[in-house]
Amino acid sequence: ASTARLVVVSNRVPVPTGTGHKAAGGLAVALEAALKSHGGVWYGWSGRIVDGPPSPEPEQKRVGEITFAVLDLAQRDYDLYYSGFANRALWPVCHYRLDLIQIDGEDTEGYFRVNDAFATSLVPLLRPDDLVWVHDYHFLPLGKALRDRGAGNRIGFFLHIPWPPPDVASAMPAYATLLEALTAYDVLGFQTQQDAENFGRCLERDGFARHVADGIYETGGRRFLVKAFPIGIDVEAFRRTANRAVRNSVVQRFRASIGERRLVIGVDRLDYSKGIRERVDAFGCFVRSNPKVRGRVTYLQITPKSRSEVPEYRRMQEEVAEEVGSLNGSLGELDWIPVRYLNQTVNHASLAGLYRMASVGLVTPLRDGMNLVAKEFVAAQSPDDPGVLILSRFAGAAHELDGALIVNPYDIEATARAIARAYDMELEERQERWASMSARLPETDVNVWWKHFLSHLETPAAIPAGAE
Ligand code: G6P
Repeated sequence: ASTARLVVVSNRVPVPTGTGHKAAGGLAVALEAALKSHGGVWYGWSGRIVDGPPSPEPEQKRVGEITFAVLDLAQRDYDLYYSGFANRALWPVCHYRLDLIQIDGEDTEGYFRVNDAFATSLVPLLRPDDLVWVHDYHFLPLGKALRDRGAGNRIGFFLHIPWPPPDVASAMPAYATLLEALTAYDVLGFQTQQDAENFGRCLERDGFARHVADGIYETGGRRFLVKAFPIGIDVEAFRRTANRAVRNSVVQRFRASIGERRLVIGVDRLDYSKGIRERVDAFGCFVRSNPKVRGRVTYLQITPKSRSEVPEYRRMQEEVAEEVGSLNGSLGELDWIPVRYLNQTVNHASLAGLYRMASVGLVTPLRDGMNLVAKEFVAAQSPDDPGVLILSRFAGAAHELDGALIVNPYDIEATARAIARAYDMELEERQERWASMSARLPETDVNVWWKHFLSHLETPAAIPAGAE
């Protein structure tokens, strides 16, 4: 293991509150493990919005080997950088939704200004040998901003969401500036081979960099690596959680409340990329065309609200609620509500138990970087009686989990047929499919993932002999 310190940068930072157990996701736990083994700093936004101008000095909190360092944002900067540019321009473009893009010059300017401010405050914390690892679309130009301020460190970037082909990507406002800035990183990681290739095509098409060999690009005498690092879950930890969850009281209460009914489950942030309305329609179509399931199946959709200050999200939240209401109204009976729809978070342990109880897992995003619910669903199943995963071909996870029933989520009838097929699937086929998926989970285990990324970040890209 190297002795270099690690500096992780992400918009959200899971600063420990000190009041007992925190509800950290698998990724946060894994990055903390990375930080613990190297020692270092986790830097980003405090989650706070302040009235006056925020302090340029990060607030620091040291817990063991990790220093959490966070900055507040002024309301206006939050609106421009996060709600505006990141979530109304970059997010829709990266999810192939050019119909939803909102371009606003002030958002663009605010996004770059906030990235500059984050870089300015980070530079004094950096030591020359630190490895810097920047995460996600909030911080595309951060590496370049750090270089402009003299940082000579190895700086890596990982994009958690998809990267589209050039014709779609070039709808991003300030596209050329962003692409140029991205060439300042030493390693650029993507969720799938397809995303990495799309990005490479963007670089080459407009001459931002020249392909030298095997994912290695060159511009202005510098070389950098573009590569897929598919993310995963902590497989063993999640399996253990699911095994224990049969005794979880939330899970037991839920079991009692649905009685003998079979469970179909979906778990997503309430985001238009998740295809929730299409999924609700598909479930309705499944019930209408299979009268035998009436009263015998419950579809539980757990969907915490997200980014509600963004108009496109608010609109979609209303549409989904209306769709669920209308389906329950038309198909429900005195003693049966077909869809149980919740806008709240459910803790990890309970989720694991619910996945394990489910006969069918519905993971049908219209576009998704990876989708870890798909992997958690697989990890949570009991080998004796596994449920069936229905997975969108447009989720990164579909590149690995081909034992799922793969669907085109835009095709409501086909998705409904997949639900029917999953509902009736014989044990033997369920076990075969599950075993093939389960065997693939360790390849992308989140602890393998960060080590793999860091091993490439530590070592400059070498050109294989004779490849040039
Ligand atoms: C996606 C993004 C993350 C983001 C998360 C929650 O997974 O890749 O960067 O943190 O959504 O969204 P939020 O806007 O609440 O941070």
